[in-house]
Amino acid sequence: MKLQPARHITGELRLPGDKSISHRAALIAALSDASSEISNFSTAADCASTLSCLRELGISIEHEPDKVVFAGGQELSTPRQPLDCGNSGSTLRILAGVLAGHDLTAELTGDASLRSRPMQRIIEPLEMMGARIESTDGKAPLVVHGSSRLNPITYKLPVASAQVKSAILFAGLNATGRTTVIETLPSRDHTERLFNGFGIPVTINADHSITLSARGRFIGGSMTIPGDVSSAAYFVAAAMLLADSQLTIEGVGLNPTRAAFISVLTSWGADISTTDIQTERNEPYGTINVRGGLNGRFESDRILSGAMIPSLIDELPLLAVVGSQIEGGISIRDASELRLKESDRLATTAANLRAMGADVEEFDDGLRVYGPTKLHGASIESHGDHRIAMAFSVAALIAEGETEITGAECVAVSFPEFFTLLESVAHR
Ligand code: S3P
Repeated sequence: MKLQPARHITGELRLPGDKSISHRAALIAALSDASSEISNFSTAADCASTLSCLRELGISIEHEPDKVVFAGGQELSTPRQPLDCGNSGSTLRILAGVLAGHDLTAELTGDASLRSRPMQRIIEPLEMMGARIESTDGKAPLVVHGSSRLNPITYKLPVASAQVKSAILFAGLNATGRTTVIETLPSRDHTERLFNGFGIPVTINADHSITLSARGRFIGGSMTIPGDVSSAAYFVAAAMLLADSQLTIEGVGLNPTRAAFISVLTSWGADISTTDIQTERNEPYGTINVRGGLNGRFESDRILSGAMIPSLIDELPLLAVVGSQIEGGISIRDASELRLKESDRLATTAANLRAMGADVEEFDDGLRVYGPTKLHGASIESHGDHRIAMAFSVAALIAEGETEITGAECVAVSFPEFFTLLESVAHR
């Protein structure tokens, strides 16, 4: 993909449904007593992986143009072949939790990136609950031997991970008592919101731990998935960095455990507002309005660290790109989890920023990005990582000269429409 610099970003967008919410809505619909209709389902290849795994497990799913329809009242059955989760960590980890609670054996696998990522984090709690999971040194392929009578556990997450939390909560649906997950730092809470929204009560305790009290099945029903806020982030950042931009994104998810980048960018001088806020099955959504240009009024010390990190986790490569344009630059710390994503995102972000002329220091757990720096076009390696390809497409718009992104087709993992929509709002 070759990209030219842009002068401004102008227009109105609506985005396909949120990837994280779509995975969970599909799993919930598959485990519901009645039928479900999910509109604005994510177009991400990752969510297609979740649907195809569910089909392999015997769930009947009709994919109509504007909605995905689940029959409801079905039981999972032993699949005839390994379940291919593609590039999707959420599919593999959360589905492992679902399978752990069923009397069947199933193999979960995926592409080379997914097979290199750590799975011990789900194996440990699911085995404590009574499932047996075979792996190769804690990596996929995983063979899950489940049981519909799991032990209830209280489990303290060693890493802040919504995927691990969700795996335990989905397994807890078939535990013979209360399942409690203690988070060290709060991670995205879609599972908690949607369990409550589809008839399975989940309590958030005073110490922020999460308790699922009893076994149960979901009620089913309809849901329109809010637009993907992590996909919106690339457009918001591009619009704020290009003066004279004016962008509106309607119907986008604004869950606070996901939308933290908006307040970070605002604290770095961006003009961003959110309006028309409504909710769908406990998930807030609304309109994001961005006007281009930085007002130069910095309200924060520009260090992203600690408890902020989980709610910014997927936006950190993009925030590093934006940081290269901020007076004084920015720092990211406590983010070693980024090394375990679809690529080592600390290394791939640092290398690509340097290729475009930025001054970057890399630490075990973060980055120091100096700024402001005028970036120049370069040859960017996506490493097959969708978020790296999209973050550096934004960098390309503000750079001098042409940028070429290799392996850019990987954007389809989360956002197949990305380049088409970017061209529709980028003015040159
Ligand atoms: C996700 C959780 C995050 C995030 C990933 C999606 C989810 O991963 O990086 O893109 O849907 O739960 P972790 O929970 O492993 O941090």
